[in-house]
Amino acid sequence: MTGIAIIGGSGLYQLDALENSRTETVSTPYGEPSDALTIGSMHGESVVFLARHGTAHTLPPHRVNYRANLWALKHMGVDTVISVCAVGGIRASIRAGTIIVPDQIIDYTWGREHTLYEQDLAEVTHIDFTEPYCAELRQALLAAAAAAAIEIVPGATYGATQGPRLETAAEINRMEKDGCDIVGMTGMPEASLARELGLCYAAVAVSANDAAGRGTGPIEMDAIKRWLESGLRGVKLILQQLLQARR
Ligand code: HPA
Repeated sequence: MTGIAIIGGSGLYQLDALENSRTETVSTPYGEPSDALTIGSMHGESVVFLARHGTAHTLPPHRVNYRANLWALKHMGVDTVISVCAVGGIRASIRAGTIIVPDQIIDYTWGREHTLYEQDLAEVTHIDFTEPYCAELRQALLAAAAAAAIEIVPGATYGATQGPRLETAAEINRMEKDGCDIVGMTGMPEASLARELGLCYAAVAVSANDAAGRGTGPIEMDAIKRWLESGLRGVKLILQQLLQARR
């Protein structure tokens, strides 16, 4: 692993631990990334940070320019990308506040620009996506969580939905039958674009709520914010351990 990037999801719009930082605006063949990139030093490692929804949280999941985001990170010399993301918990044991390092994905999104391999091709190109996340980075995240003594769920199937609305209870029941343990709106096509670009990509997810129909009533947006805040404190400790272990 060399250069590392962190994509911050809902609740993580900047990294306070990023020191001596500067911002850089990158234009890409696919349009503009969600925001300027912030480049700095975090726990002794050089890190590029990008707020997935923009620093002011104005881009909904289906409007994020995933192609431009990943292309811009690659352009900055990054080869490793950690996605920090919010999810809802489907599996009964994944309650609000839980931190998860998923290992599989089912994609329910539609209509998103999802590939770099569509125009001016010398030949049709497919990628292997059997294991959608980078094994080496997943192991580094699990080791960092253990070193930080943060309890996490070390594997789960992430169901990627279109949003921005949350799901119906019936959709969540169907997703559970499909094998989904958690549900989020940004995991795809981010993961497959990272693979197309040859980036080592893994995710660390915070469960912000019980998925639709799994809690005691409607999903409250204020409660999501509170659970995210507490989960993200743990994620930051995991990131600190991971970065320190790379030095
Ligand atoms: N569904 C989809 N995405 C989410 C959820 C959810 O319940 N919670 C946080 N992101």
